Amino acid sequence: MKIIRTANYEEMSLKAAEIMIDRIRNNPEITLGLATGSTPRGVYQKLIKDHVQNHTSYKKVKTINLDEYMGISEDDPNSYHYFMKTELLDHIDIPTAQTHLPDGRAEDLHAECANYENNIQSIGGIDLQLLGIGENGHIGFNEPGTPFDILTHPVKLEEDTRQANARFFNSIDEVPTHAVTMGIGTIMASKEIILLASGANKAKAMSLLINGAIHESVPATALRNHNNFTIIADEEALKLV
Ligand code: F6R
Repeated sequence: MKIIRTANYEEMSLKAAEIMIDRIRNNPEITLGLATGSTPRGVYQKLIKDHVQNHTSYKKVKTINLDEYMGISEDDPNSYHYFMKTELLDHIDIPTAQTHLPDGRAEDLHAECANYENNIQSIGGIDLQLLGIGENGHIGFNEPGTPFDILTHPVKLEEDTRQANARFFNSIDEVPTHAVTMGIGTIMASKEIILLASGANKAKAMSLLINGAIHESVPATALRNHNNFTIIADEEALKLV
């Protein structure tokens, strides 16, 4: 585990974008595992800026997202499909067919999870996975108690995760109760993993991630067993470390 400590959110975003751009330029056919949420927004803005200014190309890049809510349509502004389109994918030259998110409206969710997992395998796995972290230590929507070897699966969201995500919705009642997520086993199979964290609300989770026991009660601690895992986090997020 490598830790890159940055002064603030801006510097965290810049550092992560620099690493991602380096990997994309070295491997133009790279498969990127991507996250949604507040944390990676700044990174995506920097990737777009670099694409416009320096013409880094995504024509052969593939993207695989971590998760999607269950039961909301792709056009819903709160869906992760919509987030990815508006925050990144519509602004770079990646063909839509090369971008993947779980279908949260699939009739047979278990079949959708198996398909998603097979799809990741068939394109040769994830080269670089970008992650955020939940205040309870979740990664993707793998909540505390999730087995470390689980693959893509449907999940019931914890109430504190729904509360934390309610800021994106009109009210807590609109926050979906379930989601589809890559499993910890899926994430761990990525060749390289970068986890981002910013702000004091992540300090407890980051302290447990870095110094706590490796245990299913804090899903992110599984990452300490990965041989190419980098944390990029700001001072506030690392203030208890
Ligand atoms: C998002 C995801 C989640 C978030 C985490 C942090 O695709 O899988 O695990 O990374 O909930 O969210 P933010 O960045 O909004 O604090």
